[in-house]
Amino acid sequence: MKGDKLTQMLILGIESSCDETGVALVQTEEGLVWPRLLAQHLHTQAAMHEAFGGVVPELASRDHIRRVIPLVEQVMASAQQTLSKIDVVAFTRGPGLAGALLVGAGTACALAASLGKPVVGIHHLEGHLLSPFLSDDPPEFPFVALLVTGGHTQLMRVQGIGQYELLGETIDDAAGEAFDKSAKLLGLGYPGGPALSALANQGRADAYAFPRPLLHQSHLDFSFAGLKTAVLTQCKKSGEDLPLHRADIAASTQAAIVDVLVKKSLRALSQTGLKRLVVAGGVGANKLLRQQLNASAKGVGATVHYPEAEWCTDNGAMIAMAAAMRLQKGLAELDTTYAFDVLPRWPLALM
Ligand code: KG4
Ligand code: ZN
Repeated sequence: MKGDKLTQMLILGIESSCDETGVALVQTEEGLVWPRLLAQHLHTQAAMHEAFGGVVPELASRDHIRRVIPLVEQVMASAQQTLSKIDVVAFTRGPGLAGALLVGAGTACALAASLGKPVVGIHHLEGHLLSPFLSDDPPEFPFVALLVTGGHTQLMRVQGIGQYELLGETIDDAAGEAFDKSAKLLGLGYPGGPALSALANQGRADAYAFPRPLLHQSHLDFSFAGLKTAVLTQCKKSGEDLPLHRADIAASTQAAIVDVLVKKSLRALSQTGLKRLVVAGGVGANKLLRQQLNASAKGVGATVHYPEAEWCTDNGAMIAMAAAMRLQKGLAELDTTYAFDVLPRWPLALM
């Protein structure tokens, strides 16, 4: 498949929607089907928020301010490019934490204004959705996307760049939130997904039959709030013996989340008639999810694409990439007024 406009351009991307400051530089090039990543750097605030058991928005904003310019400098040095060569500056416009988003938006606009170049605001979830195009073996359109981040759990039909149809989403907690909240109840650190997953390796997945809400409904919506309550109840029941049961609770929690995600994803493939699934977002790094999706997809002759582990969680490369892919297709809304706003709540299907 070929992009429409294949002129050479340098696009700087800035991500600051939550607790990661990410900056990257990508290049569109004649003859290249998809843009090429030249350099990227990232600073994660996980350690800073860990003491509070979750992201503290004000601390996040302040840290983005401290990190973003040095990260831009690092990226330009790694790519051996100068700021004056940048053609477009992209930033995450939403969804996310308002204050955190404003840091990226403000920085992008100040930088672009000083260079006399346009800015483009990118949807964070579109960045996740298109992150598999950073890999050497990108998927082809159309595909079903399972977007599983800390704040969103959605199944989308993706016809092409900018053509996203919401098939189903969570009606309460996101899958990542279910991992994080259950991890917190088990006394694990933040973010809880990787920690819970590691503890689960030492436990029995069938020790507790945790709820799998909406599993047998034909629609593609999810619900994870009940799981957190069930985990809480089990922790209380275990009382002083909790340390003995933690690994089993972790394994059973992970099994419940993964089971629902896999079954609903397979149902989305069957309902759309598509044979390609793309998994994006932090929870997409989960090993059990990958194993079970691969096995189930194989059974129905479908293929599953994942971004490389480093592109599953938030990063600047996916924002620069989404902007570059939109530019190639003539779909980027370039702005030179620099009158930026951010959209903390912004449905992807309404783009
Ligand atoms: O996409 P992401 O980096 O940020 C948002 O846009 O929200 O996703 C973060 C989420 C967190 O809930 C984190 O616990 C979860 O992804 N996560 C995982 C794993 N790695 C990250 N959940 C399960 N297993 C993992 N290996
Ligand atoms: Zn994200």
